[in-house]
Amino acid sequence: MNRSEIRPDLKEAVERAREWFRERRPLSYAAWSRARQHMPGGNTRSVVYHDPFPLVMVEGAGPIERDLDGHEYLDFLNNFTSLIHGHAHPAIVEAATAEMRRGTAFSAYLPAQGALAEVLVGRVPGLEQVRFCNSGTEATLFAIQTARAYTGRSDIVKIEGGYHGGHDVAEVSVHPDLAAAGPSKRPRAVAESGAVDARALRGVHVAPFNDADALDEILRAERDTTAAVVMEPVLGQAGYIPPEPGYLTAVREIAHRHDVLLIFDEVQTLRVCFGGAQELYGVTPDLTAMAKIIGGGFPVGAFGGRQEIMRQYDPESGRALFHTGTFNGNPVTMAAGRVAMELLDREALGRLDRLASRLAEGLLEAVRAAGLPGGVTRSGSLLGLHFRTAPVKNFRDAVDAPPELGWLLYFALLEEGIHTAPGRAAFNLSTVMDDEILDEAMARIRRAMMTVGDSFHVRKT
Ligand SMILES: Cc1ncc(COP(=O)(O)O)c(C=O)c1O
Repeated sequence: MNRSEIRPDLKEAVERAREWFRERRPLSYAAWSRARQHMPGGNTRSVVYHDPFPLVMVEGAGPIERDLDGHEYLDFLNNFTSLIHGHAHPAIVEAATAEMRRGTAFSAYLPAQGALAEVLVGRVPGLEQVRFCNSGTEATLFAIQTARAYTGRSDIVKIEGGYHGGHDVAEVSVHPDLAAAGPSKRPRAVAESGAVDARALRGVHVAPFNDADALDEILRAERDTTAAVVMEPVLGQAGYIPPEPGYLTAVREIAHRHDVLLIFDEVQTLRVCFGGAQELYGVTPDLTAMAKIIGGGFPVGAFGGRQEIMRQYDPESGRALFHTGTFNGNPVTMAAGRVAMELLDREALGRLDRLASRLAEGLLEAVRAAGLPGGVTRSGSLLGLHFRTAPVKNFRDAVDAPPELGWLLYFALLEEGIHTAPGRAAFNLSTVMDDEILDEAMARIRRAMMTVGDSFHVRKT
């Protein structure tokens, strides 16, 4: 077989994969069709939707989940990185159940909040104090508000391709159309949709990832109105692109020099090291936004940082900021989160890292064996597969690959019983995976990649 010629009909191949997906899931299709009558798109979370309809899951245990049609999957998505101990981990279920029996919500301070706060402050270098909310969206929103109140300025600098959840200034230049996105060193701020407040858009300055000089230039121009640089230390949505050596250190110095705060969005990256990406890359931000793993599988968010900044919320500071939420720090989440974080000790993280490194090698081998262009980016247990051979350093590099290949791989992996991010060729691991599971997963990945390769190339006999 010669795998060297590109076939022109990748789109057709994706259509066939979608049809096959639908045929194999009649019960899921029926459940989703019914949901559509009452929920637009038959779902309540856009990121899980894809054409022809989203997966319909009914249960999970450890590294495995099962859909309504009875198909089982090894879960390499883990609720978008939040289930670091897989599904229904017994110790987490036990802690949450015990807490539920004692009551699920109180209008008071709860010791369980202080217990999780202590765990987080004890491990994340940039945290001296922390407050809880209910999602990563809220965490980045409150971190930005905190920076505004502290600096007396309103604008932010964000990174092109960076995702920080669903609020106005976050929904800017996440997946910008490159035709509208302007020059690579000084990208234009592009609203993700008409839902974004046009006035808020004017307060967002966009910088390319892994380019400290560009950030310096932007801050030279915008420092007088800018409160903070908001960034994921590893660019997540664009496929887990790690910072180049020295980049984050330079960002830290530039923010400091221009007197703006540095906010790390560690909603996903907290899982890459005991103290998050800030420990792994040795750079301490002023504020940190967190969510996902710190809730042990329950809804959660948190933001925190230097005491001098966070004390704005302390009524005794004399200028207390108001931050509240009916379910902030609810005891079930707090208890589950504490167990999840305690299970994630340095040894567990070491094992995850070793497995992730094996998976990275396996992905590369599979790509090569299928004759596809490709490279893998990784930080800890977060991995991105990019269908291009040139290095991927920022959002524009990441989108410089045929999107059809990501979709073909997604559907081919589902056929093999592997669940990953829809269309994105992104993987993350959980601590309940081991070498045996990984061997099995890699055999499946190799087969799926061959299917993609067959669509990419003309067979010659
Ligand atoms: C880096 C990052 N920030 C913020 C968010 C928003 O978190 P949530 O979905 O909990 O609102 C996400 C969600 O995927 C994320 O990956």
